[in-house]
Amino acid sequence: MGIDLGTTNCCCAIYEYQEITMIKNEEGETLTPSFVYIKSIDNILVGTAAKNQLIIDSKNVVSSVKRFMGTEKIYNIDGKNYTPIDIASFILKSLKNDAQRYIKQDIKKAVITVPAYFNEVQRKATVKAGEMAGLDVIRIINEPTASCLAYELTKTENNLVLVYDFGGGTFDVSIVDITDGMFNVIAASGDNMLGGLDFDNKIVNRLLKVFSQQHGIDLSEDNFAMSKLYDAAEKAKILLSTEKVAKISIPFICANEKGPIHLEYTLERSEFEQMIEKYVDYTMDIVKKVISDSNLNPSDIDIVIPVGGSTKIPLIQLRLKNLFTEEKLSKTVDPDRVVAMGAAIQGAILSGDIDNVILVDITPLSLGVEVTGGLFIPVIDRNSKIPCENSKLFTTIADDQKVVEINIYQGERKLCSENYKLGTFSLHNIRQAKAGEPRIKVTFALDVNGILTVSAIDEDTKANQTITVNTSPNSLKLSDIHNIIKNAREFEREDLEFEEKIRLRSDIKHVKNRIIEKVNRLKYSLEIQNEIIELLKEIEENINIATYEQLKNYYDALLFYQDEIDYTEKEYLMKGLLG
Ligand SMILES: Nc1ncnc2c1ncn2[C@@H]1O[C@H](COP(=O)(O)OP(=O)(O)OP(=O)(O)O)[C@@H](O)[C@H]1O
Ligand SMILES: [Mg+2]
Repeated sequence: MGIDLGTTNCCCAIYEYQEITMIKNEEGETLTPSFVYIKSIDNILVGTAAKNQLIIDSKNVVSSVKRFMGTEKIYNIDGKNYTPIDIASFILKSLKNDAQRYIKQDIKKAVITVPAYFNEVQRKATVKAGEMAGLDVIRIINEPTASCLAYELTKTENNLVLVYDFGGGTFDVSIVDITDGMFNVIAASGDNMLGGLDFDNKIVNRLLKVFSQQHGIDLSEDNFAMSKLYDAAEKAKILLSTEKVAKISIPFICANEKGPIHLEYTLERSEFEQMIEKYVDYTMDIVKKVISDSNLNPSDIDIVIPVGGSTKIPLIQLRLKNLFTEEKLSKTVDPDRVVAMGAAIQGAILSGDIDNVILVDITPLSLGVEVTGGLFIPVIDRNSKIPCENSKLFTTIADDQKVVEINIYQGERKLCSENYKLGTFSLHNIRQAKAGEPRIKVTFALDVNGILTVSAIDEDTKANQTITVNTSPNSLKLSDIHNIIKNAREFEREDLEFEEKIRLRSDIKHVKNRIIEKVNRLKYSLEIQNEIIELLKEIEENINIATYEQLKNYYDALLFYQDEIDYTEKEYLMKGLLG
């Protein structure tokens, strides 16, 4: 079962017989309002029934719980405390029941979607709510990823997709890079306090004003009237997505001494568009910004997926067309259902029902450790499918070294100083040995939620240490990822040279030590000895500042002397001159 757990509405889908089925709730609707009404612990309503209670018993109605997932918020209802996880679990339980009734089968496993910006705590809270609802949450996936899946984009060539998700209470925009069937949210932005509800507000305010002008009555304090107004405003808004005019009519909205008063208003699409234009333009500014922050142009985007009920508004469609052209705007999937459909597809992939897509979440950046000279050694490569685990062996650089420091980095550059540091820890009690002898195994394990566990063990003493860090793009701005990758390409040559220099320095030290060891034992002319000593001195002074070319010259010169020494040594041995 794929579940789109929305701020305003939830939607579920299941995948069976190679097909996606949208679940209908008891009212026969595919969208279930994210409202919970708690009369008592064993009298809980979810969806439209709960929303209807707003008019009569609003203090027992909870809405928009998604905003508070992972927070300490407590809902106190009739003296009993509920956490956001409790409330979300009531919704999920009800969705599960609807689905079971609809397909007449038990459902155990679910994939639940969350916004790309949800952090670890918010994701875990969502999993917990699912478990409390009796679901085995096999995966949490990002809403924009789910949207891409619903369009079966993995089957087409590589694409850069922009997901414009405008729901009831939040606006999210994400850029998803699809390469070889792998999804990577490279940038995300939005406003989590902007949605279709703001449009309803605009209409309600207009109606209040007109009503007060006509009848001298302020309805804003009247709960009953207000909920009628909101209801009518939303209906009119939805109608205006297909019609040019919406007639708003609320009979008996209130009464005065002369009797009942009815509210009548004709709202034209053009008037509505004037009300919301400012908001729509604001979302487009966010879209443009996230594109330019990723060093992209609108023309680089291959496909635009509109998600969320509010994208059905013609003005929004128009703005998207103007920015991206009509052909790029996807229209085949209902924006209300796309997220739940994607979640169901992901579920089917995980259970092996679909195998011609390789949808996986991937780690967008390499993860690794620092070694001598500030060099970055990846342990898990960029674009690895997660979950994943990998180990590499490292060693000491000094004789009898007892402690190694393990610095964990994320990035694509060969220099740690150019990458992001995620954490650090020390491994103590390393076996006493010559430099290079101890075997220290470092293991990186990355879980599906972007949590990285790094452990190090000395294979001889079994001394070990573990650390857990969050690699999720929250610690790092999502829009940075694209730049990081671009930068790494740009600096590839410099980085290779940097790496080569470190290798050369270590080779030079190695040959130098051999030469020093032997040169005194061989009876060279003073001239040659001086030559060697001069060279060694020069190298000593310059080794850390020399250019790549210089280092290479030093190395070649040392190799020349080494050959010379080896040759002489052999001659001496043959002549029996060496002690
Ligand atoms: N045809 C339509 N025209 C305009 N607005 C619509 C239409 N259909 C639905 N909406 C609006 O879309 C909003 C609900 O969108 P959606 O169900 O995508 O939200 P959600 O996913 O629950 O919220 P969020 O994305 O904020 O978590 C409501 O404000 C609703 O009024
Ligand atoms: Mg949504």
